[in-house]
Amino acid sequence: MESFLFRALDEEDLNVVVGAIEEKHYKAGEHVIKEGDQGDEMFVLESGSLDCTKVFKGNSEPTHLKTYEPGEGFGELALLYNAPRAATITAKTDSVCWALDRPTFNNIVKDAAAKKREKYDDFLNEVSILKTLDPYERSRLGDAIVEEKFAKNDFVIREGDIGDKFFLIVEGTAIATKVLEESKEPSKVKDYQRGEYFGERALLMNEPRAANIVVTSDQITLISMERATFIRMMGPLEDLLKRNLALYEKFSLKK
Ligand code: CMP
Ligand code: CMP
Repeated sequence: MESFLFRALDEEDLNVVVGAIEEKHYKAGEHVIKEGDQGDEMFVLESGSLDCTKVFKGNSEPTHLKTYEPGEGFGELALLYNAPRAATITAKTDSVCWALDRPTFNNIVKDAAAKKREKYDDFLNEVSILKTLDPYERSRLGDAIVEEKFAKNDFVIREGDIGDKFFLIVEGTAIATKVLEESKEPSKVKDYQRGEYFGERALLMNEPRAANIVVTSDQITLISMERATFIRMMGPLEDLLKRNLALYEKFSLKK
């Protein structure tokens, strides 16, 4: 249930996947996947730790891309796109993986996963805050996001609440409002449109929500990311997001 690729499955399909999974053990230093090979399985790491590396054009040495932690899936690209393995995955410590075969993946997981990635790919490529993410990481965000809709005047976020989600606007508009003088009504501090984000501050600062977010169009379509996903997937953007927090400073409560 923690692995995004499988999250959308209903109980029946999940049971088929669980029945088809094969446990595989790897010693430190052993390859789970070799770049360029044909691939017949995708994996979820159960325990241990794995390194992902790739040889980029013009380089003789592989570049380290990421380290996998338990619960994370990989090796899906070869199955989704019938392509050779795009990277090498090596056991950093003795590790246990769950392997799912191509026929089961094709029958049960592939369509939903490919559809979801493709559905959001164009949008995610357009979002300026995500421009610096590796294209692969950006398309993987598609697995992890949830679509939410709200109507005009709905509060997506209320100032003072505990925050556990980050949002991007796919369609529609909203405003941020905030109490700037004690015991006065909140004032508008920002306009939002497609491609813009909010709700990052509570997650980055571990503080309550610092503003209201109110829908101004007839309807709004958002995609949201839970705290754990935000931290894991948006990690490379943390500095940029934190720097942007300074833009809110001129709108703070006058004491
Ligand atoms: P696959 O190509 O089947 O096998 C190698 C896996 O490495 C790939 O699927 C992805 O799951 C994973 N991977 C992680 N980062 C990247 C990246 N930047 N580019 C390509 N594959 C990556
Ligand atoms: P968060 O505090 O999680 O929830 C409310 C969001 O409103 C906040 O993250 C920011 O994304 C956004 N926001 C817009 N303007 C301001 C502002 N002046 N101060 C704080 N947050 C703001």
